[in-house]
Amino acid sequence: MKASFQAPSNIAFVKYWGARDLDLAIPNHPSISMTLEKCRSLCTVETQPYDGSADQVWLVDESGQRTDPGESFTRRVIAHLDRLRNHFGAQVRFTVGTRNTFPSAAGIASSASGFTALTLATLGALEREVSADELSLWARRSGSGSAARSTMGGYVEWPRGESEESCHAFELAPADHWDLRDVITIVQTAPKRVSSLDGHVAAPTSPHYERRLALVPRRLDQVRAAIHDRDLVALGPVIEEEFIEMHLVAMSSCPPVFYWSPATLAVLARVRELREDGLCGFATMDAGANVHVFCEPVEEPQIATALGETAGVDSVLRDGVGPGPSALAEPLI
Ligand code: DP6
Repeated sequence: MKASFQAPSNIAFVKYWGARDLDLAIPNHPSISMTLEKCRSLCTVETQPYDGSADQVWLVDESGQRTDPGESFTRRVIAHLDRLRNHFGAQVRFTVGTRNTFPSAAGIASSASGFTALTLATLGALEREVSADELSLWARRSGSGSAARSTMGGYVEWPRGESEESCHAFELAPADHWDLRDVITIVQTAPKRVSSLDGHVAAPTSPHYERRLALVPRRLDQVRAAIHDRDLVALGPVIEEEFIEMHLVAMSSCPPVFYWSPATLAVLARVRELREDGLCGFATMDAGANVHVFCEPVEEPQIATALGETAGVDSVLRDGVGPGPSALAEPLI
């Protein structure tokens, strides 16, 4: 059997940072994200009868050329294949082919989209139909917790979950509720030096982490209300406060985790200047140096041009809110 799916990346308004169970990615607090339209991962999974040989994992480019994705990615993929294979009692080996629609050197988190597409294609190849809730659970169990939110489109909340089985995402609003844009400002093309996983491990060692946990519930309420009201002026200051606090926790963890570069600061200063000039753009950052700037469609061209001209910026990717995963007509392998 062979199955092919594509799944979106997502960008968090309220960040997942720190977990009760890191292997299964059960978070310490809820998070809220926007699903992206253009930044997606494609994946084909094929089953063969089990013959004792190892699963094969390939990066496949648009011409069909296969390359080895490297040991650490392959290990994470095979661990997830094992989890699904064992759960469903399948006597098969897998061949996986995957690629991203965005430049892999752009430093944009690809684990969320990649593991969601892998989960869907593996379930498809095993001929297993699961509910939306179960799909989010299986994506999360890959260990890339933010994958739990990439299983659906629009605006998505992933709760803390009182039990493992209830720790799945749900839709707050569909993509067509609010056409919000994300100008992704790339200042660092090399992979980040400290993984999100190491950041989650270190987070509780920060003296600011407990305070963060106390502040998150109010922020979640504000973000939910701003999404409901399609109110960027209400959303913006909350998401800026939120990402700065996540990075404050990272920088004050033991060992400290620094993701910001000089160009990051230049972009953040530019965003503030643009606001002084009357434009409405607000920033967030994941575990990396790149900056995502949210704005309304009418101001997107002007904001993208200004950010592209900022010193230290490599490139900008213009994305926006988008739908959830879907089946692919053409297999990658
Ligand atoms: C800062 O553990 O989901 O992006 O496995 O690298 O995708 P990856 O990361 P994950 O942590 C995500 C951390 C974050 C915030 C967020 O997306 O909520």
